[in-house]
Amino acid sequence: MALQIIVGAQWGDEGKGRIVDWFAADSDYVARYNGGDNAGHSVTVGPKLFKLHLIPSGIIHPKPVAVLGNGMVVNPKAFLDETDMLQKAGVEINPQRLRISYAAHLITPAHMALDKAQEVARGKGNIGTTGRGIGPAYTDKATRRGLRVGDLLAPDFLQHLSAQIDEANQQLSFLGASPIDNGAVVEEFQRCREAMLPYIADTSLELCNAISAGQRILAEGAQGTLLDIDHGTYPFVTSSSTVASGVFTGLGIGVTAAEGAQVTGVCKSFQTRVGSGPFPTEVFDDLALRLRGTGQNPWDEYGTTTGRARRVGWLDGVLLRYAVRVNGMTELVITKLDILSGFQTLQLCVGYHQNGKTIVDLSFGPSNLEGYEPVYQELPGWAEDVSAIRTWDDLPAAAKGYLDAIAHLAGVPVRLASVGPEREQMVENK
Ligand code: IMP
Repeated sequence: MALQIIVGAQWGDEGKGRIVDWFAADSDYVARYNGGDNAGHSVTVGPKLFKLHLIPSGIIHPKPVAVLGNGMVVNPKAFLDETDMLQKAGVEINPQRLRISYAAHLITPAHMALDKAQEVARGKGNIGTTGRGIGPAYTDKATRRGLRVGDLLAPDFLQHLSAQIDEANQQLSFLGASPIDNGAVVEEFQRCREAMLPYIADTSLELCNAISAGQRILAEGAQGTLLDIDHGTYPFVTSSSTVASGVFTGLGIGVTAAEGAQVTGVCKSFQTRVGSGPFPTEVFDDLALRLRGTGQNPWDEYGTTTGRARRVGWLDGVLLRYAVRVNGMTELVITKLDILSGFQTLQLCVGYHQNGKTIVDLSFGPSNLEGYEPVYQELPGWAEDVSAIRTWDDLPAAAKGYLDAIAHLAGVPVRLASVGPEREQMVENK
């Protein structure tokens, strides 16, 4: 299989980083195809916790080449800070190991300032963005005014950047926000530009050649299906194609090159979301605290990028089935199974009540979920701590029953379950 796509089945934060890490050891390339440093991918290796926002999680393994694809939006400062952090942690970083597509778009301080000012202007209807400039950078891309990574090579790049800042300052003034210091931005980019130039490449060409040569590409999705610009809970979504088909445009790979591609959906054993928007299975109070954790552990449900407490709830099987459909998922990985230890019973959402009717599938997508009452299947919980278990057969019968119920509802098998944050805390369904 030349291509394996790792995609989030929920609203992001499913634990994709550590699943990419699990599959990356055998890959020749690990490539991100969407989003920017709004993502927060955590990987724990022994005593080290890596929090990656921009660079593919596979970089932690020595073999794969890490690629930032053309579908991404890249903040040069965030890129260089992250390469520094990785180097200090002993990860080898050089242009032989890491490449950025010339066609990826640049995030500048203008985008970040606009992102924040637009959120303030939205007031109560805000989206709850990460403030990383993602929406404004993709807006510039779509309106064909964006600066691309390849533009860093042009001698007049800094003039174009300065013009973009001037224009953003006009919009910021209209929004009642403070202007940004044009000279300081230009100076910062002058420094970043030099450092970034060696990493710029035609990554589409390289990946297509790699596929032809029989090499293995692991595509790392950021955010999740329900945050997809087309298929998510619009308008409470991010601005990119998070779903598996985003790989083809976001990496410049032909659809036919991917014969036999595997689409691995990563799904938490319960549901979480950050930011605003509908969430039918959301729970509150003591139950929420139990699922979320207190914030003392790095794996508790607080944002890697923003530190915000995540909203939590029972696993929504209707949304999961939808995610399987729009991604063409071939298998699932269920993360954080250990968090459910100790619940006497578990609730799995298998349908919704709406206007006196019961539905088990969405007919108009997930945007309009307000007023949908979850229909739950109650399943027995398990008391045992599962964090030391490494084989499927050793899982408590109720845990296997829960995973079977998820697979049945989703219509695809569960291949792996994680039982803790460490690299080896995984149980494979062989
Ligand atoms: P943006 O991507 O910063 O524009 O934010 C848009 C929405 O996507 C907000 O609700 C964010 O909280 C959410 N979001 C963006 N990136 C992530 C992520 O990596 N995990 C979870 N939610 C995210």
